[in-house]
Order: sequence, then structure tokens, then C-alpha cells
Amino acid sequence: MNTPLRLCRAASLREGEAQGFDPQDTGQTTLFAVRYRGQIYLWRNRCPHLGTPMNWRHNAFLNGCGDKVVCFAHGALFEPDSGLCVQGACLGQALTPLAWDITKEGWLSVTETMDETGNTE
Ligand code: FES
Repeated sequence: MNTPLRLCRAASLREGEAQGFDPQDTGQTTLFAVRYRGQIYLWRNRCPHLGTPMNWRHNAFLNGCGDKVVCFAHGALFEPDSGLCVQGACLGQALTPLAWDITKEGWLSVTETMDETGNTE
């Protein structure tokens, strides 16, 4: 098992918000976390359509209602909890989930890392 990498205080991720992270200092936002209906979900920041990042600016992953993840490139919509694309170019495909944990100190941490290609290890 990989060493967990701290992302943020779990309590700082508020309902209907998403935050992007670069825990391996790649210079790119490689993953993002969403709090949706009280639960936290952690996704790789890569659209299943063309493999591009999902966000159009820092932490801009959700639609205006905060109930769907939006891909900036072509506007595909994804369920924040299942990661399933429900509208757009990659209908039926899904975001890639990442394993996470909350430390006893309250840090949201990713427990699997990605190599330089974005594949999980
Ligand atoms: S790259 Fe995401 S919908 Fe096309």
C-alpha cells in the first residue's frame, strides 16, 4: 500500500463543493474531491472522453447547481457519486475513483498514487 498523501482538512470540503489537488507535485491538478449529499468522493482529474483535465479553472469542477461534475472541454455531465457520465460525448463511461481515507487528525488523504501517465499504482 502506498503512503497516504494529505489533501486537505476533510471538514474544509463543504457540501456541493469540489477541490482539486496535485499531491505528487506534478504541476497539474491530478485529482479532485467532491462532497455530495454528505459524502466525499475522490476522482482522477481526467475525462474518459479524450483524457483531458475536467476543470476550466482552479476548483471549477461542478455545474452551477453543484449536482453534477462538468467536463470543461465538451460539457459532459457526470454524477458526483458514481462518476457515471449521464450526458455528453462519453455517455455511459465513468470517472476513475481513487481510494482515500481520513486520518485521525482529520486530513482527507489519497491512499493510492498515480504515475506520470496518470495510471494508479
Ligand atoms: S474531453 Fe470531456 S467531454 Fe470531451
